[in-house]
Amino acid sequence: MIAIGCDHAGCEMKQSIINALSEKGYEFKDMGCDGTPCDYPVIADAVCSEVLSGTCEKGILICGTGIGMSIAANKFKGIRAALCSDSYSTRFTRLHNDTNIMCMGARVIGNGLASELAEIFLTTEFEGGRHQRRIDLITNIENKN
Ligand code: RB5
Repeated sequence: MIAIGCDHAGCEMKQSIINALSEKGYEFKDMGCDGTPCDYPVIADAVCSEVLSGTCEKGILICGTGIGMSIAANKFKGIRAALCSDSYSTRFTRLHNDTNIMCMGARVIGNGLASELAEIFLTTEFEGGRHQRRIDLITNIENKN
């Protein structure tokens, strides 16, 4: 199950991703919003909570730029969120950073690319090895603050 959420800027993109990837067998838990103007940190909180509780394995967050969602999501202990707008970064953030949330900007990239990037994010496995050590160092920083 994938948690997905957006603010008012990202509703069309969210629906487009749900439509495209549901056809491929992915299941989504839609954490809002419904298009009514809302504050992106509220939605980031809802999606991150689904991932941290283990109800959902990963999360997708969409706002106008993807930046507000990224900032909010990365405040949660245990969340590693990446702002994705190209396939290389999307692939490598899974391989090397073991990110559990991807963020996208609906005013930055198109719906077709967003669905492609979401699929890359959801299908690429973490490489582990030396990258796990670096994730552990990030966790140490989290625990100190
Ligand atoms: C909403 O207008 C906009 O600020 C929001 O979608 C996002 O881009 C914030 O980072």
